[in-house]
Amino acid sequence: IKRIALLTSGGDAPGMNAAIRSVVLAAHHYHIEVIGFYHGYNGLVCEEHIAMAEPLTLLKVNSIIHLGGTILKSARCQLMHEAKGLQLAADTLNDKNIDALVVIGGDGSFSGLLALQAYWSGQMIGIPGTIDNDLDGTDYTIGFATAVNTGIEAIDKIRDTADAFERIFIVELMGRHCGHITFNVGIACAAEQVLSFENFNANEQSSKLQQLATEITTAKKNRHSSYIIVIAENLWPGGAVELARQLHLQADIECTPCILGHIQRGGSPIAKDRILATKMGVAAVQALIDGESNIMVAEQNNAMNFITLDEAIKHKKVVSKQLIDAQQNILALTAQTQC
Ligand code: F6P
Repeated sequence: IKRIALLTSGGDAPGMNAAIRSVVLAAHHYHIEVIGFYHGYNGLVCEEHIAMAEPLTLLKVNSIIHLGGTILKSARCQLMHEAKGLQLAADTLNDKNIDALVVIGGDGSFSGLLALQAYWSGQMIGIPGTIDNDLDGTDYTIGFATAVNTGIEAIDKIRDTADAFERIFIVELMGRHCGHITFNVGIACAAEQVLSFENFNANEQSSKLQQLATEITTAKKNRHSSYIIVIAENLWPGGAVELARQLHLQADIECTPCILGHIQRGGSPIAKDRILATKMGVAAVQALIDGESNIMVAEQNNAMNFITLDEAIKHKKVVSKQLIDAQQNILALTAQTQC
């Protein structure tokens, strides 16, 4: 193996740059050249982006470990869902004499890799980089820990002003269709309510609204302080804003909605993500040298392992029951002490 193609795809995640650096350093150690392709899979299928492809030198990855975003840029690429796009990608990889393709991204990006198998015979490997932590088979994805910390820092600030005014806030967190960020942030911020896919059934919307109204009213009667509800994006139709509107309309409860949004994707990666990304980048290069293909690097019990791309995207990784129970129990204990 002489030449690796590297790209970042889908929602960027803090730590992607650390992973890029690690792949380049490891490859350099084994005298393998790394070509960086820009703007996700567009780098393989669109003329203007293909033209940007360039060797990633040691200098290029110097001083990037602490940077959020991705120096290779990112994108979601519709063409990779079509035969035409997949053929274009294969042609580009062949034209550039690429032996192996490394993609840093999430499940959508890995579906692209799987589809490419039918068009290109080089080695392929995925490195899990997404704030959502929703990839099965790996304990953590790159970017998740930083996103959780960002959520915590933001809600700690909201708590200050919420306390000062004894206000109720509804804070909406990212995570696409999984509650990993919501549960972790909710517990760490001592949110009074955590609303996520794992503890909420969409059919129970009206009874949930009633229950929320009762619980908020009781809590406010018992103690003069702030009240924070964290809610997963894509859970409540209309999100935090609509939930606030409904609580006002139906129970005369005033809530301030706050959508944290893309702030959770940015910022300097915390130590955990830098280290995870560094370990995963090295493991990916090593696996390619060992002749592996169609796999994703996975962290399992602190060790680097590999699972097939198929396995990685078959199911969304669920929030552990232990975490859900812990949140429930701590909430129950808090309610008792306040009565
Ligand atoms: O997958 C990462 C993520 O940030 C999700 O949490 C979120 O639902 C989505 O990407 C947002 O995507 P976009 O930036 O394209 O709106």
